[in-house]
Formats: sequence, structure tokens, C-alpha cells
Amino acid sequence: MEKIVSLSKRRGFIFPSSEIYGGFGSCYDFGPLGVLMKNNIKNAWWKEMIQNHNDIVGLDAGILMNPKVWQASGHLTAGFADELVECKKCHKRFRAEEIKTKNPAPHRPALLQKGGAGAGCPECGGELIKPRKFNLMMKTFVGPVEEKAATTYLRAETCQGIYVNFLNILNSTRLKIPFGVAQIGKAFRNEITPRDFVYRIREFEQMELQWFCHPKEADKLFDYWKSERVNWYLDLGIKKENLREKEVPEKERAHYAKRQADIEYHFPFGWREIEGIHNRGDWDLSNHSKFSKEDLRYFDPSTSSGQVKEKYFPHIIETSVGVERIFLAFLSDAYQEIKGGRTKTTEATKEIEILLKLDKKLAPIKVAVLPLVRNKLELVKKAKEVYQMLKPHFVCQYDELGSIGRRYRRQDEIATVLCLTIDFESLKQDDLTIRDRDTMKQERVKISNLINFLKTKVEN
Ligand code: GAP
Repeated sequence: MEKIVSLSKRRGFIFPSSEIYGGFGSCYDFGPLGVLMKNNIKNAWWKEMIQNHNDIVGLDAGILMNPKVWQASGHLTAGFADELVECKKCHKRFRAEEIKTKNPAPHRPALLQKGGAGAGCPECGGELIKPRKFNLMMKTFVGPVEEKAATTYLRAETCQGIYVNFLNILNSTRLKIPFGVAQIGKAFRNEITPRDFVYRIREFEQMELQWFCHPKEADKLFDYWKSERVNWYLDLGIKKENLREKEVPEKERAHYAKRQADIEYHFPFGWREIEGIHNRGDWDLSNHSKFSKEDLRYFDPSTSSGQVKEKYFPHIIETSVGVERIFLAFLSDAYQEIKGGRTKTTEATKEIEILLKLDKKLAPIKVAVLPLVRNKLELVKKAKEVYQMLKPHFVCQYDELGSIGRRYRRQDEIATVLCLTIDFESLKQDDLTIRDRDTMKQERVKISNLINFLKTKVEN
């Protein structure tokens, strides 16, 4: 992990938040390369959900909502609380769940059992203070005068915005059950023990699909969406051996879940949940009906031919994943160190080369344009022309600093898919060399044909 944290900072993937002020409680900023990669992850998910399906629509609901939403959802009650234990000696804090199991359970618990932690401090063996419950919702005030302002919460999961818009979506589209609503947006949790870099943070982005279906179909669809989601990771290059599914037992499930499966990834710090698949039954729609007094049942006209028209609360199958969490999974999976270097140049043999083998869809930079040397003006001029030509089509970088070998390695380290080198032949033949990140194979391509050629190589 230390190596990944260091690469992230050094190359501009992830920075600690407000670093000049000493950072801020487990918040992070995404740098120039990080924002490109994060957008690529979100685009890949959005494309998968919205473009590849006929029956899924998108939504962008607000972060702030009427606080009643959170009463109805159960988030203000014990359902959304973690138990905190503190060591009397070293004052380190842990989630009670981490103490109960040697290998910390990765998922959020439902209601934790009361009672002492029953073990010593995992760090120093000291005595632990009795567990206390902490609600994870972040409070805020809406209105200019704090005392008179309405108290509400920053949303702790994006899906509530979908449920409260269920009728609006039905009424404004021609959708019929079954259908899905997909959303990407910020969520906030006052985590009591944030840790493991961007794995558990207080401000994060969720990508959630809510699939509304007939109650009888829910079990089948749960399995369907679970395997769809696992395949999405495999298609984006996550190694099969680093992925597993875990059925979550009843006592550990989230308060709204009738059934829950976690997709887990094998991080450098162990197996941890990266995505939750939930059968939420009618928990959300029936509670929002009760609290809002709006009838959120679905009237199914399709059964009219079979005489009985049905009115029911659709059941919800949810897939929910944090962008930063899988950002870290993709980085960890792609990170490779090659001792002695991939090439046999004397310069490289002493070094450890880093290769980030991200899927081309996720790689922040698709193409780097490099003049062979920078002290030959004609080469630099031609390389800059090529760079300007490609820029509107691909995310490109221009680099002329250092030896060509060093520049290849700098690009390998940030996962750049292709390196284009302009050499002396290029001036005569109007072509250039294209080097593939993974195979290191080089081929010459005419500049007149370059855009079409690159489209076949780096586009999905
Ligand atoms: N709407 C369902 C829901 O929010 P969850 O299991 O609490 O379920 C879903 O969260 C996903 O959101 C997790 O699998 C994880 O990827 C991400 N997530 C949750 N809390 C997080 C945190 N503190 N930091 C980063 N990601 C988080």
C-alpha cells in the first residue's frame, strides 16, 4: 500500500486533502491524473448501465433532502450506527466489529450486539473502553441563522434520492416494471475509524443502480445483477483470483437488506468489500409511503389481460459501489514492479520499473507524444504538430524531458496506453513509431493515417 500511496501522490493521482494545513480527517483530493481516471471509471459504469440497457434511466438527485427522508429510511435510528471502542492506554479507536474478528469484517454491520468488546487492544494489548454507538449521518444546517435553520443531513447513500423520485420517474417516462434507475453522486459518512487510504473515507462517490421489480422476481434478479457486476470487474481487467463473492449472514446485513452479497477484492491489506448487492424488498418504498402519505405502490396494467390488475410495492435489487474504493482496487490490481527493468539498457538495469497495467478504458492518458531528442528543433516541431492534431481526439501528453527510455518508463508508471516517438525517419517518411505499453512492441504508422489507427487501439 505504501508504494501505491506514494505513486498516487508523486504522479498526481491522489493528494491528502488540505495538505498545507496538515490534512483533514481522512479526506482526499484527486489530482490531474486521478480525476481523469475517476471519470473513466464513472463513464465505464454509466455506459454499462445506461447505454447497454434499454430499461435503465439516469438521475442526478441533490445531496440535501428533507430530513424526513432519513427518518423513513431508518438511517437516523440505530440501523446506521457503528460501535466505537477506544483503548484506555494508547487511545487508538476501533470499530467494535474489528475487535470481534481478527480479520476485520469488511461490510457495514446491521445492529451490533451490545456488551463489551471482549478483547484487548489489537495495537498495544491495553484495556478497551466499553463500546459506544455512533450514528454515521453528517448533520448540516439549511438557512442563514444557525439556531433557526432546519437541521438536515448530507446524504449517506445516493439511492434515497431515487426512491423519493420514484413517482416522478414513472410519470415522466413510459417505463414499466421491471426497470432500473442509475445514479452517480457524492455520499458522506462520519466514519469513526476511516483508514486504508481511500478505502474508507468520509466523503465519497457512489454509483448505484436500483432495479424495481415484481416481488416474485426479486430472488432471480438478485443473482442476475450479482453476476453482471462481477463480470464488469473482470471485463475491466481485475484479476479473477483477486475477486470473490460473499453472502452476508442475516445478523451482519444492513438494516434494509433481506439479502446481501458483498463483492470483495483482495487488497494489499486483505479481502474487503468493494460493492454491495442488496435485496431491499419493499423496505424503502413502503416506509416512504408511510412517512410521506403518498401511495408509492405500482399499478400493474399488464396483468389486465389476465383479469387481475395488481397494485404492489415493487421490490428493489440494488448494486452499490464507491468510486474511490474501486479506484484503489484498480490501482492495486494494475500495479507491477519489474526489478532490473523491462529493457536491457544499462540505465534501466539498476532500477525497479513500475508498470501500471490499467485497462485502456481506465488509463488516464491514452497517448504520449515524444520527440526522440529535444535538442533537434525539427523533431520537436513535428512532435508538437502531432500532439496538437491528436489533442481533440484523445487524452494526450507531450513529453520531451530526459532520455527516451526514461520517458517510456514515466509513461508506463501512469498506465499510458501508447507512446508515439518522432525520430529522424519521421521527417523523411512522415510517419512515427508507436510503442505498446504492455507488449513493448513497436510499429511504424503514417501520420496521415494516425487518428484512425489510434481509434482502433485506444477506443472501446
Ligand atoms: N445504498 C446502499 C449502500 O450504501 P453500503 O454497503 O453502505 O450500501 C455501498 O455502501 C458501497 O459504498 C460500499 O460497498 C463501498 O464501495 C462504498 N462505501 C461505503 N462507505 C464508504 C466509505 N466510507 N468510503 C468509501 N466507500 C464507501
